[in-house]
Amino acid sequence: MTEGVRCRLLLVSGSLRAASTNTAALRTAREVAGPEVETVLYERLGHLPPFNPDDDTGTLHPEVAGLRAAIHAADAIVFSTPEYAGALPGSFKNLLDWTIGDDQRGSIYEKPVAWINTSPRGARGAHDELRSVLGYAHAAIVDGACAAVPVSNAIIEPDGIIADGATRAHIASVLDAIVEALPCAASPTD
Ligand code: FNR
Repeated sequence: MTEGVRCRLLLVSGSLRAASTNTAALRTAREVAGPEVETVLYERLGHLPPFNPDDDTGTLHPEVAGLRAAIHAADAIVFSTPEYAGALPGSFKNLLDWTIGDDQRGSIYEKPVAWINTSPRGARGAHDELRSVLGYAHAAIVDGACAAVPVSNAIIEPDGIIADGATRAHIASVLDAIVEALPCAASPTD
């Protein structure tokens, strides 16, 4: 781990769109994270195979192995997903399905998780479903770090980052809230 870094966050967007507001929020999270927090943006959502329990044995598809390794390496996960047709995007639900069968140490089981809801319209169906699926996964939802941070296309800069100061501060507060809940935040760096 890089010197000074105490905690590692995996950032997972539920959108495949290049100009995604959800991915923009997570890219911005990378910028506003404190020096004691290492952030890794998961960018392989569109490369995962369709979930099939028959393929969840023996040698895993390399993309599935990569997803699970990224989760194992993280102290916590921060999600940000759109709502499609009142529910989670299929590709993102597919990612979550691939996390369920991982019985190795460091899996999503009991891993602290939170989410940023960027929808200006609430996207209640998707976020109720996200809570439900993460419950089935036995992830440890950090409620105090789950926040609505509305992001419109208008505040995303051409480089895909949010420059608006209030939004950046809100995203930083989400990261602070989840990191404060982690044992790694209390551990010495040396
Ligand atoms: C949507 N959108 C949408 N929004 C919402 O609040 N409830 C919904 O049920 C849906 N359904 C829906 C279906 C389809 C096919 C599309 C393309 C869009 C809007 C969508 O959530 C919104 O554009 C988000 O901003 C997309 O997220 P990203 O890609 O910007 O991260």
